[in-house]
Amino acid sequence: MARRTPCVGGNWKMNTRSADAAALARAVVADASSDVEVVVFPPAVYLQEVHEVVSGSSVALGGQDVSEQADGAWTGQVSAGMLADVGCTHVLVGHSERRHGLGEPDSLLNAKVRTALEAGLSVMLCIGETLAEREGGTTSDVVLKQVREGLAGVPIESLAALTIAYEPVWAIGTGLTASPKDAQEVHALVRETVGSLYDVPSADALRILYGGSVKPSNAAELFSQEDIDGGLIGGASLDAEQFKAIVDAAGRSCV
Ligand code: PGA
Repeated sequence: MARRTPCVGGNWKMNTRSADAAALARAVVADASSDVEVVVFPPAVYLQEVHEVVSGSSVALGGQDVSEQADGAWTGQVSAGMLADVGCTHVLVGHSERRHGLGEPDSLLNAKVRTALEAGLSVMLCIGETLAEREGGTTSDVVLKQVREGLAGVPIESLAALTIAYEPVWAIGTGLTASPKDAQEVHALVRETVGSLYDVPSADALRILYGGSVKPSNAAELFSQEDIDGGLIGGASLDAEQFKAIVDAAGRSCV
């Protein structure tokens, strides 16, 4: 089986002001680990400033969203080329606050994935079911559809630049977390699906992160599951000490 480098992302969402963003980035750089790939996703307006702090370190920079369009008359949007221009190497696509909160459909997210990959960015594609879908027993159908439709038309050579983040919607920012066993089940299913859409070695090499109320107290148990390769962290990524503890847990526990 492929040895996968653990990865932890810090999604700052619509938080911080310029001074705190720079301070948080400095702390993340100071705490960086050589065993774990760390990516921070600050608000778009602070990307350039955070880039100045992380540049030259092992901490990577990502945008929280990207337009599916190239540059042009698209008021309010940020293109993949612009993200790359300010030092981003990564981008989140399909975070539940956009997918469910803003109603972005799979077809749009697929266009964003392909545009970002074509621009040379690494994509973290977020998937996850709502509480009603989990309670209705349709979790597998929902996440597998998100994977299939999100990756439609993505060539196998691009998979090395892709990470999937499984984030049950009901666990994001709520303090509720999927049990390690439930999360592992979904991760294994996602890996199997990617294996059948592409091939087994590519699926084996793919990082699949868990997200949704990951904290220092639950990170190690989640990350020690076979198919969980790290985490996408919201709330706890705004606290440098908690984020460091989670990164350290990934270094110790991801297998
Ligand atoms: P949370 O957010 O850690 O605050 O639950 C996770 C995410 O939205 O990526």
